[in-house]
Amino acid sequence: MNRSARTNDRYSNPRRGSAGGDRGARFRPQGQGQGRPGQGSRGPGRRPAAPQGEFALPVTVTPALPAVETFDELDLPAEILKTLTGLDVTVPFPIQAATLPNSLAGRDVLGRGRTGSGKTLAFGLALLARMAGQRADAKQPLGLILVPTRELAQQVTEALTPYARSLRLRMATVVGGMSIGRQASALRGGAEVVVATPGRLKDLIERKDCRLDRVRITVLDEADQMADMGFMPQVTELLDLVHPEGQRMLFSATLDRNVDLLVRRYLNDPVVHSVDPSAGAVTTMEHHELHVHGADKLGAATEIAARDGRVIMFLDTKHAVDQFTKHLLGSGVRAAALHGGKSQPQRTRTLAQFKAGTVSVLVATNVAARGIHVDNLDLVVNVDPPSDHKDYLHRGGRTARAGESGSVVTLVLPNQRRDMSRLMRDAGIRPKITQVRSGEAELSRITGAQAPSGVPITGGAPATEKPKRGGAPFRGMGSRPGRAGGGSRQSAEARQLAEARKAARVRRAG
Ligand SMILES: Nc1ncnc2c1ncn2[C@@H]1O[C@H](COP(=O)(O)OP(=O)(O)OP(=O)(O)O)[C@@H](O)[C@H]1O
Ligand SMILES: [Mg+2]
Repeated sequence: MNRSARTNDRYSNPRRGSAGGDRGARFRPQGQGQGRPGQGSRGPGRRPAAPQGEFALPVTVTPALPAVETFDELDLPAEILKTLTGLDVTVPFPIQAATLPNSLAGRDVLGRGRTGSGKTLAFGLALLARMAGQRADAKQPLGLILVPTRELAQQVTEALTPYARSLRLRMATVVGGMSIGRQASALRGGAEVVVATPGRLKDLIERKDCRLDRVRITVLDEADQMADMGFMPQVTELLDLVHPEGQRMLFSATLDRNVDLLVRRYLNDPVVHSVDPSAGAVTTMEHHELHVHGADKLGAATEIAARDGRVIMFLDTKHAVDQFTKHLLGSGVRAAALHGGKSQPQRTRTLAQFKAGTVSVLVATNVAARGIHVDNLDLVVNVDPPSDHKDYLHRGGRTARAGESGSVVTLVLPNQRRDMSRLMRDAGIRPKITQVRSGEAELSRITGAQAPSGVPITGGAPATEKPKRGGAPFRGMGSRPGRAGGGSRQSAEARQLAEARKAARVRRAG
């Protein structure tokens, strides 16, 4: 296997002084196509400038290797290929097909692919494959994945563990809110790959429980959120500690000007795979703006929550999340709250219960907006509208993942309509707008809303399956929530995703 990372002279240049040099990526206005195979299209002028300022994609100087069609064509260890097959991951998704040939060759990568498009394996397989056969000394990991939230760190670790195990690579998760002693001891025992939130990693470094100078591959997942959350100083501090000649990859569904600095300072002649999120997110997703009146909002939200099937409901504040969850439990809806004010064991348990189906409604702040993957989730509800189009895309992106379809519903009060239409314009989305009232057929048709049982659920998050109720849908209207698909126009990437899934199904069936 060819692991010679830097075959081009440009790569061996000393680079990335920590003093903010502009080496590496060059910039040009966004919207100019790169003309590379496997790259998503973005028509110039399709999206108005984002409020935070549009992100300018760097120019790739060294041409990228072409995209592959199968995992077998990639320079992947046999153990990884076997694990992929075992897990029924048979055809690479477009962002994997386009970036893996390059990331496996050691190139820096900037990947903007829509929510649910498979970014985790895109960076994860490259990182693990390039690390095969190596052994980390105590406290000195060789690969680092930085993510903004604890839940995402745990999920990324879980998603990559089977592949890491097959290569006998050890992974450690380093996040706040959990025992720092245990994390320190995992690092002392030796971990080739660390998945971390920036704050806790910095603490461990300060305690001298971890050093980053041997880290040769660094991934930033959801870099723009780390910037939004104010982690940028910590992220740059950490990036300045990793090996200066190492490989860096930066992936997100959305990128904005806040990550320009990271791209300029830390990516060297990156291969760019970019799909405009506004072009990508809509294709298998149906977007609804439900206009409600203030006095009726709680009633409408409650009936949506009482639907059969799971749903994530986003609210603005921890307090609002707690209040609404309490109200739902009192109404007989199996709901649980997830926000930054809960202890980490509680947060972990709540998400596990939601994934397992013992909780059917996850009421959350934006802490659950990024990266979290829950199977068979076909509805996301913004009880409070998000504050910008990026939050909208990420919240909504918890459904309609990996080529599946789903609906995003936003409850909009009269005084929120103007801001909401601006947000939708920024996101490049044309929602279906419907005036609804609680108890109405239209609300039921779009979301599956029905009357809650009214029998309070006691003892916090319930542990039992929801008893089947009558069967008759609320007020006689029984159609399930609308699904995108059929006539909706699909982007090339969405089609490829759908085809990849279909191929996987056929192979399974065969
Ligand atoms: N090639 C593939 N074939 C089948 N399923 C895949 C493939 N690649 C990834 N998946 C599945 O697709 C789902 C979404 O992947 P992932 O979480 O990596 O998306 P993402 O692009 O990181 O989304 P987000 O922007 O929301 O973080 C996961 O369940 C993953 O297992
Ligand atoms: Mg992700």
